[in-house]
Amino acid sequence: MPSVSEIMESMEYGPSVEDSSAVRDWLAATPARGHFIDGGFTEAGDLFDSRDPASGDLLAQVTQGTADDIAAAVAAARAAQPGWQGLGGHGRARFLYAIARTIQKRERFLSVLETLDNGKPIRESRDIDIPLAVRHFYHHAGWAEIMADEFPGQQALGVAGQIIPWNFPLLMLSWKIAPAIAAGNTVVLKPAEYTSLTALAFAEICQQVGLPKGVVNIVTGDGETGAALVRAEVDKIAFTGSTEVGRAIRQATAGTGKRLTLELGGKSPFVVMEDADLDAAVEGVVDSIWFNQGQVCCAGSRLLVAEAVAPRFEHLLQRRLATLRVGPPLDKSTDIGAIVHPVQRDRILSLLDQGIAAGAELIGSPPAEGCFVNPGYLRAVSPANPLWSAEIFGPIATLTTFRTADEAVALANNSRYGLAAQIWSESATVATDLAALIRSGVVWINGANMFDSAAPFGGMRESGFGREGGRVGLAEYLAPPPVETRPDPEPNAEAAPVASEAAGIDRTIKLYIGGAQKRPDGGASYRAASGDLVPLGNRKDIRNAVEAAQKAGKWTTMGGPARAQVLYFLAENLSQRQRDLSRLHGADQVEAAIARLFHYAAWADKFDGWNVQTRPGHLVNVVPEAFGVMGIVCPNDAPLIGFVSLIAPAIAMGNRVVAVPSQDDPVAAFDLAQVMDSSDVPGGVVNIVSGPRRDLALTLAQHDDVAAMWFCGETGRDAVEAASAGNLKPVWALPNRDWSAADAQGRAFLDQAVQWKTIWLPYGA
Ligand code: NAI
Repeated sequence: MPSVSEIMESMEYGPSVEDSSAVRDWLAATPARGHFIDGGFTEAGDLFDSRDPASGDLLAQVTQGTADDIAAAVAAARAAQPGWQGLGGHGRARFLYAIARTIQKRERFLSVLETLDNGKPIRESRDIDIPLAVRHFYHHAGWAEIMADEFPGQQALGVAGQIIPWNFPLLMLSWKIAPAIAAGNTVVLKPAEYTSLTALAFAEICQQVGLPKGVVNIVTGDGETGAALVRAEVDKIAFTGSTEVGRAIRQATAGTGKRLTLELGGKSPFVVMEDADLDAAVEGVVDSIWFNQGQVCCAGSRLLVAEAVAPRFEHLLQRRLATLRVGPPLDKSTDIGAIVHPVQRDRILSLLDQGIAAGAELIGSPPAEGCFVNPGYLRAVSPANPLWSAEIFGPIATLTTFRTADEAVALANNSRYGLAAQIWSESATVATDLAALIRSGVVWINGANMFDSAAPFGGMRESGFGREGGRVGLAEYLAPPPVETRPDPEPNAEAAPVASEAAGIDRTIKLYIGGAQKRPDGGASYRAASGDLVPLGNRKDIRNAVEAAQKAGKWTTMGGPARAQVLYFLAENLSQRQRDLSRLHGADQVEAAIARLFHYAAWADKFDGWNVQTRPGHLVNVVPEAFGVMGIVCPNDAPLIGFVSLIAPAIAMGNRVVAVPSQDDPVAAFDLAQVMDSSDVPGGVVNIVSGPRRDLALTLAQHDDVAAMWFCGETGRDAVEAASAGNLKPVWALPNRDWSAADAQGRAFLDQAVQWKTIWLPYGA
């Protein structure tokens, strides 16, 4: 036993291991576990092991879910859904509240179980994972309570299939289940194969609170079980995991009508400006890439440091790195626990080897023994190094320096991902400027990995789409009031080329690209069903139009009030030409188009975000941002009003658009383009390429610089959705409908024209 003075001398921690006996008793009681379907546990089937990654010990055996298991779970969920929805918001809220209370009461048990199963330090599961899970159920109990008032006319989607990863098992379960059931859906959830145990403990909580049978179903298993769930008769798939699997799910759900949200990987920038509080920034790294062994999709894995402060920052960082304790996860003084599974450890080590072979220098001790990886960071990672862009998903960051703020932004955006960004600067002006310029769904200023159920979380670009948390997260589980749809009007005439001499090409209408009339690349025209000879656009024209739209970025940054002015001016100029255009395109269409432009001019400076309440001392803004370049495939049977109904909300929100107008009658769109020309709509904001709608749509869907797509109609939609998997652009599939109707405008369209950015700004001197 060391004396007090010796202890004071060395300042060594003694072991302080959390008691795991209650969890071990629970595990021993049922060594082989089945699924949770229709309120009960099934017999165990084909089993696989669930191990403690820190020791390699077997914790339990879990059943590999089959397609039949999935079908049984979906059937139970389907049967339970009307009754669950019928309970009403208050009825559902009481169950969510009871779940929150029960998780809270079992906090210690669940923290220990999570730590044993996942390998994360008990300090983190106890102080972060479980409390956030509790908060998620409380918060969503509240949403259930007030849903009828806050989302009038909206309905649950039905049955949601949910697939989650292993890095935050119970927390990800809560992020998925709480909003889904608050909104009146029922769920089938598949936990990750490495970490099924807290999900099964959660199933017991569902039983304990008397949750109606079938509302929550849990089917364990690996990727094949997940794939079976994706194929099953569900109304929505919500997925968190790798970009690769997200892409496969996008393809598998193409054309099925299943709603989809994807929360995928990241390589998030962690920007340290010259005026940053360096001590705080170093702590930020600890909370970011050295949190949860770096197995965090939004971890600040790319340290971008101002050159002037880099030596000092690195000095402080290395000093802090030396104090981190890698050790037994159940020890309360452990900072870095075990990697979830040897497979993941090997993956991290192999990536590290590749990075070092390509010239990177590892700072920190070499990888540890067993299923542990020591924390560290890599210097001298060149853009040619695979680790410049690959997600390591371990406790190793890369470090790069920059000179100017512009360079910092360019580096930050030099990634196919767009999940989170961390910005360290003592200047509010600098930090908020960067927050606006960096393309990511979440921005933390002077902080890292802050989460709250009121603050939406989710990505842009290849980090996926959709948000979890808050009002917009809940909306992902709701369907707008149903509209009366019409059958799909396939084009009446093929877009077949007409020989140019016969067409008298110089006198025909031209494409509208970059604010100018452009002859189509192939020089050809086609005879539209309307009888007009119109330009026959091709892939090259689409590419030119996307390029023109990209150049019109000023439209996005000029702000809503300025855009409102332009849209009002456009509406006014269209009114001036009302008489002659009415003769050509029908008086009601023109009248409705004018009204619609006024409508979106009104909205342009009013579609606001929120400031959400999370915790004291945190200003958390949720702001709508334009996607950038959108592809819009307009209705075939409503040449003018259909076109305006889709273009106007998209540009009102600051997007630039490449539009494919009605194949049968594109002339109205080109006529409107002339009005745009005289209405201060900058060139490139709206580009119009007529031709075979399905081919042009596909080219748009495949284009990496098109950030989002709207596609009206049924035929061809599956191909568009499948092709969108390339850069993971969201596709909004619109039905054919009466486009002149009053409900063919409004918030629902604006919601789809923006992506939400959540900006956290903690304050306090
Ligand atoms: P993963 O994407 O394969 O696993 C996530 C979940 O998807 C698991 O429940 C898995 O069973 C399921 N799944 C796998 N294949 C599926 C399929 N074809 N259809 C439906 N579900 C399927 O991720 P994995 O292999 O565990 O980790 C590999 C890498 O993915 C990590 O190193 C990391 O880079 C990334 N990742 C990102 C996460 C995030 O939070 N964004 C979480 C987990 C992994």
